Amino acid sequence: MPKKYYITTPLYYVNAKPHIGHAYTNILCDAFARFHRFLGNDVFFMTGTDEHGSKIEKTAREQGMEPQEYVDKIVPHFKELWSSLGIQHDYFIRTTDEQHKKVVQNILRDLEKRGEIYKDTYEGWYSIKSETFYSESELVEGRCPDTGGEVQKIQEENYFFKMSKYQDWLIETIQKNPTFIQPEMRKNEILGFLKQPLEDLCITRPKDRLKWGIPYPGSEEHVIYVWFDALINYVSGIGYGVDENKFNSLWPADLHVVGKDILRHHAVYWPIMLKACGIELPKTVLAHGWWTLSGGKISKSSGNSVDPVELIEKYGVDAFRYFLLNEVTVGLDGAYSEDLLRERYRTDLANDLGNLWSRSSSMLGKYFEGKVPSPSESVSDEALMKMTYDLYDKVVSSMEKNNPREALASVWEVMRKSNQFIEEKKPWALSKDESKRQELADVLFVLLDCLAHIACLLQAFLPNSSKEILGRLKLSGVEQIKTVGDYKKVFVEVGGEVDKGEALFPKLEDEA
Ligand code: MSP
Repeated sequence: MPKKYYITTPLYYVNAKPHIGHAYTNILCDAFARFHRFLGNDVFFMTGTDEHGSKIEKTAREQGMEPQEYVDKIVPHFKELWSSLGIQHDYFIRTTDEQHKKVVQNILRDLEKRGEIYKDTYEGWYSIKSETFYSESELVEGRCPDTGGEVQKIQEENYFFKMSKYQDWLIETIQKNPTFIQPEMRKNEILGFLKQPLEDLCITRPKDRLKWGIPYPGSEEHVIYVWFDALINYVSGIGYGVDENKFNSLWPADLHVVGKDILRHHAVYWPIMLKACGIELPKTVLAHGWWTLSGGKISKSSGNSVDPVELIEKYGVDAFRYFLLNEVTVGLDGAYSEDLLRERYRTDLANDLGNLWSRSSSMLGKYFEGKVPSPSESVSDEALMKMTYDLYDKVVSSMEKNNPREALASVWEVMRKSNQFIEEKKPWALSKDESKRQELADVLFVLLDCLAHIACLLQAFLPNSSKEILGRLKLSGVEQIKTVGDYKKVFVEVGGEVDKGEALFPKLEDEA
Protein backbone atom coordinates (compact mmCIF):
# COMPACT_ATOMS: atom_id res chain seq x y z
CA MET A 1 0.00 0.00 0.00
CA PRO A 2 1.49 3.37 -0.92
CA LYS A 3 1.91 5.78 1.99
CA LYS A 4 -0.33 8.85 1.87
CA TYR A 5 1.32 12.25 2.06
CA TYR A 6 -0.87 15.29 2.67
CA ILE A 7 0.99 18.59 2.37
CA THR A 8 -0.36 22.14 2.54
CA THR A 9 0.76 25.69 1.91
CA PRO A 10 -0.72 28.67 3.75
CA LEU A 11 -3.61 30.33 1.95
CA TYR A 12 -2.46 33.56 0.36
CA TYR A 13 -4.24 36.84 0.92
CA VAL A 14 -5.54 38.09 -2.39
CA ASN A 15 -5.12 41.79 -1.77
CA ALA A 16 -1.78 41.87 -3.59
CA LYS A 17 0.03 40.07 -6.36
CA PRO A 18 2.14 37.14 -5.12
CA HIS A 19 5.84 37.97 -4.71
CA ILE A 20 9.00 35.93 -4.29
CA GLY A 21 8.18 35.09 -0.64
CA HIS A 22 4.89 33.48 -1.63
CA ALA A 23 6.55 31.74 -4.57
CA TYR A 24 9.13 30.33 -2.16
CA THR A 25 6.53 28.61 0.05
CA ASN A 26 4.82 27.05 -2.94
CA ILE A 27 8.05 25.94 -4.62
CA LEU A 28 9.20 24.38 -1.38
CA CYS A 29 5.93 22.47 -1.00
CA ASP A 30 5.96 21.52 -4.66
CA ALA A 31 9.46 20.04 -4.30
CA PHE A 32 8.32 18.01 -1.28
CA ALA A 33 5.14 16.90 -3.06
CA ARG A 34 6.97 15.91 -6.25
CA PHE A 35 9.61 14.07 -4.28
CA HIS A 36 7.00 12.03 -2.42
CA ARG A 37 5.29 11.21 -5.73
CA PHE A 38 8.72 10.11 -7.00
CA LEU A 39 8.93 7.75 -4.01
CA GLY A 40 5.58 6.28 -5.00
CA ASN A 41 3.58 7.87 -2.18
CA ASP A 42 -0.05 8.93 -2.55
CA VAL A 43 0.34 12.68 -2.46
CA PHE A 44 -2.35 15.27 -1.86
CA PHE A 45 -0.93 18.77 -2.18
CA MET A 46 -3.26 21.64 -1.38
CA THR A 47 -2.79 25.36 -1.79
CA GLY A 48 -5.28 28.20 -2.16
CA THR A 49 -6.41 31.67 -1.24
CA ASP A 50 -7.53 33.44 1.93
CA GLU A 51 -10.27 35.76 0.75
CA HIS A 52 -12.11 37.20 3.75
CA GLY A 53 -11.23 39.95 6.20
CA SER A 54 -10.87 43.68 6.42
CA LYS A 55 -7.73 43.92 4.24
CA ILE A 56 -9.47 42.33 1.30
CA GLU A 57 -12.68 44.27 1.89
CA LYS A 58 -10.71 47.53 2.01
CA THR A 59 -8.73 46.78 -1.16
CA ALA A 60 -11.92 45.79 -3.03
CA ARG A 61 -13.71 49.01 -2.01
CA GLU A 62 -10.68 51.11 -2.97
CA GLN A 63 -10.96 49.59 -6.43
CA GLY A 64 -14.68 50.29 -6.56
CA MET A 65 -15.69 46.65 -6.44
CA GLU A 66 -17.71 44.32 -4.27
CA PRO A 67 -15.35 41.99 -2.36
CA GLN A 68 -16.68 38.88 -4.12
CA GLU A 69 -16.20 40.47 -7.53
CA TYR A 70 -12.70 41.57 -6.56
CA VAL A 71 -11.56 38.15 -5.28
CA ASP A 72 -13.01 36.40 -8.32
CA LYS A 73 -10.93 38.69 -10.49
CA ILE A 74 -7.68 38.17 -8.57
CA VAL A 75 -7.70 34.42 -7.89
CA PRO A 76 -6.99 33.42 -11.53
CA HIS A 77 -3.69 35.38 -11.31
CA PHE A 78 -2.58 33.18 -8.43
CA LYS A 79 -3.50 30.06 -10.35
CA GLU A 80 -1.60 31.28 -13.41
CA LEU A 81 1.50 32.07 -11.40
CA TRP A 82 1.51 28.66 -9.76
CA SER A 83 1.16 27.01 -13.11
CA SER A 84 4.01 29.02 -14.62
CA LEU A 85 6.23 28.03 -11.68
CA GLY A 86 5.47 24.36 -12.30
CA ILE A 87 3.46 23.97 -9.11
CA GLN A 88 1.54 20.70 -9.30
CA HIS A 89 -1.07 21.04 -6.57
CA ASP A 90 -3.88 18.53 -6.40
CA TYR A 91 -6.45 20.97 -5.08
CA PHE A 92 -6.85 24.72 -4.91
CA ILE A 93 -9.08 25.83 -2.06
CA ARG A 94 -10.72 29.24 -1.72
CA THR A 95 -12.13 30.35 1.60
CA THR A 96 -15.15 31.63 -0.34
CA ASP A 97 -15.97 28.08 -1.51
CA GLU A 98 -19.40 26.95 -0.34
CA GLN A 99 -18.03 23.71 1.12
CA HIS A 100 -15.42 25.57 3.14
CA LYS A 101 -17.96 28.05 4.52
CA LYS A 102 -20.28 25.23 5.51
CA VAL A 103 -17.53 23.29 7.30
CA VAL A 104 -16.39 26.41 9.18
CA GLN A 105 -19.92 27.06 10.41
CA ASN A 106 -20.41 23.43 11.39
CA ILE A 107 -17.18 23.44 13.36
CA LEU A 108 -18.32 26.55 15.22
CA ARG A 109 -21.70 25.00 16.03
CA ASP A 110 -19.88 21.92 17.29
CA LEU A 111 -17.51 23.98 19.44
CA GLU A 112 -20.47 25.85 20.91
CA LYS A 113 -22.15 22.56 21.78
CA ARG A 114 -18.98 21.37 23.41
CA GLY A 115 -18.97 24.49 25.59
CA GLU A 116 -15.78 25.85 24.05
CA ILE A 117 -17.19 29.27 23.13
CA TYR A 118 -18.58 32.17 25.19
CA LYS A 119 -19.66 35.77 24.55
CA ASP A 120 -17.87 38.69 26.17
CA THR A 121 -16.78 42.28 25.74
CA TYR A 122 -13.43 42.60 24.17
CA GLU A 123 -10.94 45.39 24.51
CA GLY A 124 -7.62 45.27 22.75
CA TRP A 125 -5.28 46.65 20.13
CA TYR A 126 -6.08 45.64 16.59
CA SER A 127 -3.72 45.66 13.64
CA ILE A 128 -5.41 45.73 10.24
CA LYS A 129 -2.23 44.65 8.52
CA SER A 130 -1.86 41.38 10.40
CA GLU A 131 -5.61 41.04 11.12
CA THR A 132 -4.68 40.25 14.71
CA PHE A 133 -5.49 41.60 18.17
CA TYR A 134 -2.65 42.30 20.58
CA SER A 135 -2.56 42.98 24.29
CA GLU A 136 -0.91 46.20 25.48
CA SER A 137 2.21 44.29 26.53
CA GLU A 138 2.66 42.70 23.11
CA LEU A 139 2.92 46.02 21.24
CA VAL A 140 6.36 47.22 20.23
CA GLU A 141 6.69 50.96 20.74
CA GLY A 142 2.92 51.23 20.43
CA ARG A 143 2.83 49.44 17.06
CA CYS A 144 2.02 45.98 15.71
CA PRO A 145 4.76 43.55 16.81
CA ASP A 146 4.53 41.54 13.57
CA THR A 147 4.21 44.17 10.86
CA GLY A 148 5.23 47.38 12.62
CA GLY A 149 1.93 48.81 11.37
CA GLU A 150 -0.54 51.03 13.21
CA VAL A 151 -2.88 49.58 15.82
CA GLN A 152 -6.30 50.81 16.97
CA LYS A 153 -7.87 50.41 20.42
CA ILE A 154 -11.14 48.55 20.01
CA GLN A 155 -13.92 47.62 22.46
CA GLU A 156 -16.78 45.40 21.33
CA GLU A 157 -19.02 42.39 22.09
CA ASN A 158 -17.64 39.23 20.58
CA TYR A 159 -17.48 35.46 20.79
CA PHE A 160 -14.43 33.87 22.38
CA PHE A 161 -12.82 30.49 22.00
CA LYS A 162 -11.57 28.99 25.27
CA MET A 163 -7.97 28.62 24.26
CA SER A 164 -6.33 29.30 27.59
CA LYS A 165 -7.48 26.09 29.23
CA TYR A 166 -5.43 24.09 26.73
CA GLN A 167 -2.12 25.77 27.49
CA ASP A 168 -0.62 22.98 29.62
CA TRP A 169 -1.86 20.34 27.21
CA LEU A 170 -0.22 22.14 24.30
CA ILE A 171 3.13 22.57 26.06
CA GLU A 172 3.17 18.88 26.91
CA THR A 173 2.16 17.90 23.39
CA ILE A 174 4.94 19.97 21.82
CA GLN A 175 7.49 18.56 24.24
CA LYS A 176 6.38 14.99 23.66
CA ASN A 177 6.42 15.30 19.85
CA PRO A 178 9.86 16.60 18.97
CA THR A 179 9.08 16.79 15.25
CA PHE A 180 5.73 18.57 15.58
CA ILE A 181 7.25 22.04 15.17
CA GLN A 182 10.30 22.32 12.93
CA PRO A 183 12.96 23.59 12.90
CA GLU A 184 14.07 23.23 16.52
CA MET A 185 14.69 26.95 17.03
CA ARG A 186 11.09 27.74 16.08
CA LYS A 187 9.83 25.06 18.44
CA ASN A 188 11.78 26.75 21.24
CA GLU A 189 10.32 30.09 20.25
CA ILE A 190 6.78 28.73 20.60
CA LEU A 191 7.60 27.08 23.94
CA GLY A 192 9.03 30.45 25.03
CA PHE A 193 5.80 32.18 23.98
CA LEU A 194 3.79 29.60 25.93
CA LYS A 195 5.55 30.59 29.16
CA GLN A 196 3.21 33.61 29.28
CA PRO A 197 -0.42 32.93 30.14
CA LEU A 198 -2.38 32.21 26.98
CA GLU A 199 -5.46 34.34 26.42
CA ASP A 200 -8.75 33.14 24.97
CA LEU A 201 -9.15 33.90 21.28
CA CYS A 202 -11.65 36.44 20.01
CA ILE A 203 -13.17 34.61 17.02
CA THR A 204 -15.78 37.03 15.66
CA ARG A 205 -15.97 40.56 14.35
CA PRO A 206 -19.10 42.70 14.60
CA LYS A 207 -20.73 43.20 11.20
CA ASP A 208 -20.83 46.96 11.64
CA ARG A 209 -17.01 46.93 11.46
CA LEU A 210 -16.51 44.08 9.00
CA LYS A 211 -19.06 42.56 6.65
CA TRP A 212 -16.78 40.50 4.47
CA GLY A 213 -16.56 37.22 6.36
CA ILE A 214 -18.39 33.97 6.98
CA PRO A 215 -21.51 34.71 9.08
CA TYR A 216 -21.21 33.44 12.64
CA PRO A 217 -23.86 30.70 12.92
CA GLY A 218 -25.14 31.85 16.31
CA SER A 219 -25.53 35.57 15.61
CA GLU A 220 -26.88 37.88 12.94
CA GLU A 221 -24.43 40.57 14.00
CA HIS A 222 -21.08 38.82 13.69
CA VAL A 223 -18.79 37.36 11.09
CA ILE A 224 -16.02 34.87 11.85
CA TYR A 225 -12.47 36.09 12.47
CA VAL A 226 -10.51 35.57 9.26
CA TRP A 227 -7.79 33.44 10.85
CA PHE A 228 -10.31 31.08 12.45
CA ASP A 229 -11.97 30.74 9.06
CA ALA A 230 -8.73 30.28 7.13
CA LEU A 231 -7.06 27.69 9.36
CA ILE A 232 -10.04 25.39 8.96
CA ASN A 233 -9.20 25.07 5.24
CA TYR A 234 -6.75 22.31 6.07
CA VAL A 235 -9.65 20.05 7.05
CA SER A 236 -12.48 21.54 4.98
CA GLY A 237 -10.45 21.09 1.78
CA ILE A 238 -10.33 17.34 2.30
CA GLY A 239 -13.98 16.97 3.23
CA TYR A 240 -14.18 17.12 7.04
CA GLY A 241 -17.79 16.39 7.98
CA VAL A 242 -18.71 16.22 4.29
CA ASP A 243 -16.77 13.32 2.80
CA GLU A 244 -15.60 11.24 5.74
CA ASN A 245 -13.86 8.64 3.56
CA LYS A 246 -11.70 11.20 1.89
CA PHE A 247 -11.01 12.98 5.14
CA ASN A 248 -10.02 9.80 6.95
CA SER A 249 -7.76 8.74 4.12
CA LEU A 250 -5.77 12.00 4.25
CA TRP A 251 -5.89 13.37 7.78
CA PRO A 252 -3.73 14.00 9.79
CA ALA A 253 -1.76 16.26 7.46
CA ASP A 254 1.83 15.17 7.11
CA LEU A 255 3.21 18.65 6.65
CA HIS A 256 1.91 22.20 7.00
CA VAL A 257 4.52 24.56 5.54
CA VAL A 258 4.25 28.16 6.78
CA GLY A 259 6.38 31.27 7.09
CA LYS A 260 7.80 32.09 10.51
CA ASP A 261 5.44 35.07 10.84
CA ILE A 262 2.41 32.81 10.93
CA LEU A 263 3.84 30.00 13.01
CA ARG A 264 1.96 31.03 16.15
CA HIS A 265 -1.36 30.69 14.35
CA HIS A 266 -0.38 27.21 13.18
CA ALA A 267 1.44 25.93 16.24
CA VAL A 268 -0.80 27.41 18.95
CA TYR A 269 -4.29 28.32 17.67
CA TRP A 270 -4.63 25.49 15.17
CA PRO A 271 -3.65 22.54 17.39
CA ILE A 272 -5.94 23.85 20.13
CA MET A 273 -8.82 24.27 17.68
CA LEU A 274 -8.33 20.67 16.56
CA LYS A 275 -8.04 19.34 20.11
CA ALA A 276 -11.24 21.15 21.09
CA CYS A 277 -13.04 19.54 18.13
CA GLY A 278 -11.61 16.13 18.94
CA ILE A 279 -9.56 15.97 15.72
CA GLU A 280 -6.04 14.54 15.58
CA LEU A 281 -3.13 16.99 15.19
CA PRO A 282 -1.09 17.37 11.99
CA LYS A 283 2.23 15.55 12.09
CA THR A 284 4.51 18.52 11.42
CA VAL A 285 4.35 22.29 11.10
CA LEU A 286 7.46 23.48 9.28
CA ALA A 287 8.26 27.18 9.51
CA HIS A 288 10.54 28.71 6.91
CA GLY A 289 12.29 32.06 7.15
CA TRP A 290 11.84 35.23 5.13
CA TRP A 291 13.40 36.42 1.94
CA THR A 292 14.81 39.80 2.73
CA LEU A 293 16.08 42.75 0.74
CA SER A 294 18.44 45.25 2.39
CA GLY A 295 17.76 43.52 5.71
CA GLY A 296 13.94 43.91 5.58
CA LYS A 297 11.26 41.32 4.82
CA ILE A 298 10.23 41.42 1.18
CA SER A 299 6.59 42.45 1.05
CA LYS A 300 4.25 44.44 -1.10
CA SER A 301 3.61 46.93 1.67
CA SER A 302 7.33 47.67 2.16
CA GLY A 303 7.48 48.53 -1.53
CA ASN A 304 10.36 46.12 -2.13
CA SER A 305 8.37 43.36 -3.77
CA VAL A 306 10.34 41.05 -6.09
CA ASP A 307 8.25 39.73 -8.99
CA PRO A 308 8.71 36.00 -9.69
CA VAL A 309 7.28 36.34 -13.21
CA GLU A 310 10.05 38.72 -14.25
CA LEU A 311 12.68 36.35 -12.86
CA ILE A 312 11.36 33.24 -14.58
CA GLU A 313 11.16 35.12 -17.85
CA LYS A 314 14.83 36.03 -17.53
CA TYR A 315 16.32 32.90 -16.01
CA GLY A 316 13.76 30.14 -16.51
CA VAL A 317 11.67 28.26 -13.96
CA ASP A 318 14.32 25.73 -13.01
CA ALA A 319 16.97 28.35 -12.22
CA PHE A 320 14.50 30.25 -10.06
CA ARG A 321 13.42 27.08 -8.24
CA TYR A 322 17.04 25.99 -7.80
CA PHE A 323 18.03 29.35 -6.38
CA LEU A 324 15.23 29.39 -3.80
CA LEU A 325 15.65 25.78 -2.76
CA ASN A 326 19.42 25.86 -2.61
CA GLU A 327 20.25 29.28 -1.24
CA VAL A 328 18.99 28.86 2.31
CA THR A 329 18.38 26.03 4.73
CA VAL A 330 14.65 25.86 5.45
CA GLY A 331 13.99 27.89 8.57
CA LEU A 332 16.61 30.57 8.06
CA ASP A 333 16.16 33.94 6.37
CA GLY A 334 17.71 34.47 2.95
CA ALA A 335 19.03 37.73 1.60
CA TYR A 336 17.73 38.02 -1.94
CA SER A 337 19.87 39.48 -4.66
CA GLU A 338 19.57 39.08 -8.39
CA ASP A 339 23.38 38.99 -8.65
CA LEU A 340 23.39 35.92 -6.44
CA LEU A 341 20.78 34.28 -8.63
CA ARG A 342 22.88 35.03 -11.73
CA GLU A 343 25.95 33.64 -10.02
CA ARG A 344 24.16 30.34 -9.25
CA TYR A 345 22.92 30.25 -12.83
CA ARG A 346 26.46 30.60 -14.18
CA THR A 347 28.28 28.32 -11.75
CA ASP A 348 25.98 25.57 -10.50
CA LEU A 349 23.62 25.35 -13.46
CA ALA A 350 25.48 26.38 -16.62
CA ASN A 351 28.96 25.23 -15.50
CA ASP A 352 28.37 22.18 -13.35
CA LEU A 353 25.21 20.68 -14.82
CA GLY A 354 25.06 22.27 -18.28
CA ASN A 355 28.72 21.58 -19.04
CA LEU A 356 28.65 18.07 -17.69
CA TRP A 357 25.86 17.35 -20.13
CA SER A 358 27.36 19.14 -23.10
CA ARG A 359 30.85 17.68 -22.64
CA SER A 360 29.58 14.13 -22.15
CA SER A 361 27.13 14.24 -25.03
CA SER A 362 29.61 15.95 -27.38
CA MET A 363 32.28 13.34 -26.71
CA LEU A 364 29.73 10.61 -27.22
CA GLY A 365 28.93 12.15 -30.60
CA LYS A 366 32.56 12.48 -31.52
CA TYR A 367 33.87 9.10 -30.39
CA PHE A 368 30.84 6.80 -30.60
CA GLU A 369 28.54 8.44 -33.15
CA GLY A 370 26.17 9.45 -30.36
CA LYS A 371 25.44 5.86 -29.32
CA VAL A 372 25.88 4.56 -25.77
CA PRO A 373 28.95 2.26 -25.87
CA SER A 374 29.07 -1.13 -24.24
CA PRO A 375 30.92 -0.96 -20.89
CA SER A 376 33.27 -3.57 -19.48
CA GLU A 377 32.09 -5.64 -16.53
CA SER A 378 34.37 -3.84 -14.10
CA VAL A 379 32.72 -0.49 -14.83
CA SER A 380 30.59 -0.71 -11.70
CA ASP A 381 33.75 -0.71 -9.58
CA GLU A 382 34.42 2.85 -10.62
CA ALA A 383 34.35 5.11 -7.52
CA LEU A 384 32.11 7.64 -9.26
CA MET A 385 29.52 4.96 -10.03
CA LYS A 386 29.50 3.94 -6.38
CA MET A 387 29.04 7.54 -5.31
CA THR A 388 26.16 7.89 -7.73
CA TYR A 389 24.48 4.77 -6.38
CA ASP A 390 24.81 6.04 -2.80
CA LEU A 391 23.07 9.26 -3.77
CA TYR A 392 19.54 7.88 -3.61
CA ASP A 393 19.64 7.13 0.12
CA LYS A 394 21.32 10.45 0.84
CA VAL A 395 18.73 12.49 -1.04
CA VAL A 396 15.84 10.53 0.50
CA SER A 397 17.25 11.04 3.98
CA SER A 398 17.70 14.81 3.44
CA MET A 399 14.16 15.13 2.12
CA GLU A 400 12.82 13.15 5.06
CA LYS A 401 14.43 15.82 7.23
CA ASN A 402 12.73 18.49 5.07
CA ASN A 403 16.12 19.70 3.92
CA PRO A 404 16.14 20.19 0.13
CA ARG A 405 19.31 22.24 0.35
CA GLU A 406 21.23 19.29 1.77
CA ALA A 407 19.70 17.03 -0.89
CA LEU A 408 20.86 19.36 -3.65
CA ALA A 409 24.34 19.64 -2.11
CA SER A 410 24.75 15.85 -2.31
CA VAL A 411 23.67 15.80 -5.97
CA TRP A 412 26.01 18.64 -6.82
CA GLU A 413 28.91 16.89 -5.12
CA VAL A 414 28.50 13.97 -7.53
CA MET A 415 28.09 16.37 -10.43
CA ARG A 416 31.35 18.14 -9.59
CA LYS A 417 33.11 14.79 -9.15
CA SER A 418 31.84 13.82 -12.59
CA ASN A 419 33.35 16.94 -14.10
CA GLN A 420 36.63 16.19 -12.31
CA PHE A 421 36.43 12.62 -13.61
CA ILE A 422 36.53 14.00 -17.15
CA GLU A 423 39.65 16.01 -16.31
CA GLU A 424 41.34 13.00 -14.75
CA LYS A 425 40.45 10.45 -17.42
CA LYS A 426 41.17 12.78 -20.35
CA PRO A 427 38.92 11.02 -22.89
CA TRP A 428 40.43 13.16 -25.67
CA ALA A 429 43.82 11.50 -24.99
CA LEU A 430 42.29 8.01 -24.74
CA SER A 431 40.63 8.54 -28.10
CA LYS A 432 44.00 8.80 -29.78
CA ASP A 433 45.05 5.30 -28.71
CA GLU A 434 43.09 2.42 -30.30
CA SER A 435 44.17 0.08 -27.46
CA LYS A 436 42.34 2.35 -25.02
CA ARG A 437 39.00 2.07 -26.84
CA GLN A 438 37.31 0.08 -24.06
CA GLU A 439 38.63 2.47 -21.43
CA LEU A 440 37.16 5.35 -23.42
CA ALA A 441 33.85 3.51 -23.70
CA ASP A 442 33.81 2.99 -19.93
CA VAL A 443 34.46 6.66 -19.23
CA LEU A 444 31.58 7.74 -21.39
CA PHE A 445 29.30 5.06 -20.06
CA VAL A 446 30.04 6.14 -16.47
CA LEU A 447 29.32 9.77 -17.33
CA LEU A 448 26.00 9.01 -19.01
CA ASP A 449 25.01 6.70 -16.22
CA CYS A 450 25.76 9.36 -13.61
CA LEU A 451 23.79 11.92 -15.60
CA ALA A 452 20.85 9.54 -15.84
CA HIS A 453 20.79 9.00 -12.08
CA ILE A 454 21.30 12.66 -11.31
CA ALA A 455 18.44 13.61 -13.62
CA CYS A 456 16.15 11.05 -11.95
CA LEU A 457 16.87 12.52 -8.54
CA LEU A 458 16.51 16.11 -9.70
CA GLN A 459 12.99 15.69 -11.02
CA ALA A 460 11.38 17.19 -7.91
CA PHE A 461 13.72 20.19 -7.93
CA LEU A 462 14.45 21.05 -11.57
CA PRO A 463 11.48 19.44 -13.34
CA ASN A 464 12.16 20.87 -16.79
CA SER A 465 15.89 20.28 -17.17
CA SER A 466 15.74 16.82 -15.66
CA LYS A 467 12.91 15.87 -18.01
CA GLU A 468 14.99 17.22 -20.88
CA ILE A 469 18.05 15.18 -19.89
CA LEU A 470 16.00 12.00 -19.40
CA GLY A 471 14.38 12.56 -22.79
CA ARG A 472 17.72 13.06 -24.54
CA LEU A 473 18.98 9.86 -22.88
CA LYS A 474 15.77 8.09 -24.03
CA LEU A 475 15.03 7.02 -20.49
CA SER A 476 11.41 6.48 -19.66
CA GLY A 477 9.47 4.99 -16.77
CA VAL A 478 11.66 6.72 -14.20
CA GLU A 479 9.13 9.26 -12.91
CA GLN A 480 8.75 7.04 -9.87
CA ILE A 481 11.64 5.28 -8.21
CA LYS A 482 10.42 3.70 -5.03
CA THR A 483 13.50 1.95 -3.69
CA VAL A 484 17.25 2.14 -3.89
CA GLY A 485 17.08 -1.25 -5.64
CA ASP A 486 14.95 0.23 -8.44
CA TYR A 487 17.28 3.21 -8.59
CA LYS A 488 20.28 0.96 -9.15
CA LYS A 489 18.42 -0.73 -11.99
CA VAL A 490 18.20 2.51 -13.99
CA PHE A 491 20.48 2.07 -17.00
CA VAL A 492 21.11 3.97 -20.18
CA GLU A 493 20.57 1.50 -22.95
CA VAL A 494 23.71 0.26 -24.67
CA GLY A 495 23.55 1.13 -28.35
CA GLY A 496 20.82 3.70 -27.73
CA GLU A 497 21.16 7.04 -29.45
CA VAL A 498 21.60 10.15 -27.30
CA ASP A 499 20.54 13.61 -28.49
CA LYS A 500 23.02 16.30 -27.60
CA GLY A 501 20.41 19.02 -27.90
CA GLU A 502 20.77 22.72 -27.15
CA ALA A 503 22.59 24.09 -24.12
CA LEU A 504 20.55 23.30 -20.99
CA PHE A 505 21.41 26.66 -19.45
CA PRO A 506 22.38 28.97 -22.29
CA LYS A 507 24.46 32.09 -21.76
CA LEU A 508 22.29 34.82 -20.27
CA GLU A 509 21.03 37.16 -22.95
CA ASP A 510 22.73 40.23 -21.55
CA GLU A 511 26.03 38.37 -21.28
CA ALA A 512 25.99 36.57 -24.61
N1 MSP B 1 -3.52 34.37 4.82
C1 MSP B 1 -2.52 34.15 5.75
C2 MSP B 1 -2.25 32.66 5.92
C3 MSP B 1 -3.44 31.85 6.30
S1 MSP B 1 -3.05 30.16 6.37
C4 MSP B 1 -4.38 29.42 6.96
C5 MSP B 1 -1.23 34.85 5.32
N2 MSP B 1 -1.15 35.16 4.03
S2 MSP B 1 0.07 35.94 3.35
O1 MSP B 1 -0.29 36.05 1.97
O2 MSP B 1 0.30 37.16 4.04
O3 MSP B 1 1.33 35.09 3.53
C6 MSP B 1 1.39 33.80 3.05
C7 MSP B 1 2.75 33.18 3.28
O4 MSP B 1 3.74 33.90 2.56
C8 MSP B 1 3.19 33.17 4.73
O5 MSP B 1 3.67 31.88 5.06
C9 MSP B 1 4.32 34.15 4.78
O6 MSP B 1 5.29 33.82 5.71
C10 MSP B 1 4.88 34.02 3.38
N3 MSP B 1 5.68 35.18 3.04
C11 MSP B 1 5.27 36.45 2.82
N4 MSP B 1 6.38 37.23 2.64
C12 MSP B 1 7.49 36.49 2.74
C13 MSP B 1 8.85 36.70 2.52
N5 MSP B 1 9.35 37.88 2.26
N6 MSP B 1 9.68 35.62 2.55
C14 MSP B 1 9.20 34.34 2.72
N7 MSP B 1 7.92 34.12 2.94
C15 MSP B 1 7.07 35.16 3.15
O7 MSP B 1 -0.37 35.05 6.14
